[in-house]
Amino acid sequence: MKPAGHLQIAPSLLSADFAALGDAIARVEAGGADLIHVDVMDGHFVPNITLGPPIVKAIRKRAHVPLDVHLMIESPDLFVEAFVEAGAASLTVHAEAVVHLNRTVNFIKSFGVRAGVALNPATPVVALEDIACDVDYVLVMTVNPGFGGQTFIPRSESKVRQVRELLRREGSTAPIEVDGGIDIHTAPRIVAAGADILVAGNSIFNTPDPTAATRALRAAVLESAS
Ligand code: DX5
Ligand code: ZN
Repeated sequence: MKPAGHLQIAPSLLSADFAALGDAIARVEAGGADLIHVDVMDGHFVPNITLGPPIVKAIRKRAHVPLDVHLMIESPDLFVEAFVEAGAASLTVHAEAVVHLNRTVNFIKSFGVRAGVALNPATPVVALEDIACDVDYVLVMTVNPGFGGQTFIPRSESKVRQVRELLRREGSTAPIEVDGGIDIHTAPRIVAAGADILVAGNSIFNTPDPTAATRALRAAVLESAS
């Protein structure tokens, strides 16, 4: 098994108390969070609505680690600049939501922000083939996007292996982020398959102690890798 030293934990605020986001951030940072994952939903691309640039801007003031902003929205190009100005360190767009993916990825990178491409569970890995060398990271959805607390889709393990193989073939060492149903049971499996960045909402914030839950997620992976 590969070493898990490069592992990054990205707690998703979607499952936090939206009236106390600053406190939620402080708790997971105390547990060693590497990134704060922020889910933006528009009610069109996914059947849910969450938050926009003003909230990202407010969160930025409270966070010490980079904000990893996951855009589950149609026409993301229209909002890239606003999220960059709000303080996003990385912006993920969905392959399914973008017509000119190469243009969008390079547009994001032109602001000095990291650009990621996300794939829904039903989107084949081949969708990445012609963009693999341009992306800073790939996000493999391990549930259908839209809600926290869903069950991890087991097929995601072979999908992450396929993405890792495709990136290798294209000469890219871009990290793979996984999002949905990640907990102490699924995390070691998906890291063994090739994931580097673990997004986790429910398994961190729907616990009495998000600090301990953040630590526990990393520990579960490190223990299984040793
Ligand atoms: C789902 C979001 C996720 C979500 C994950 O559409 O993209 O980031 O917060 O939540 P859990 O970890 O609860 O599955
Ligand atoms: Zn997400």
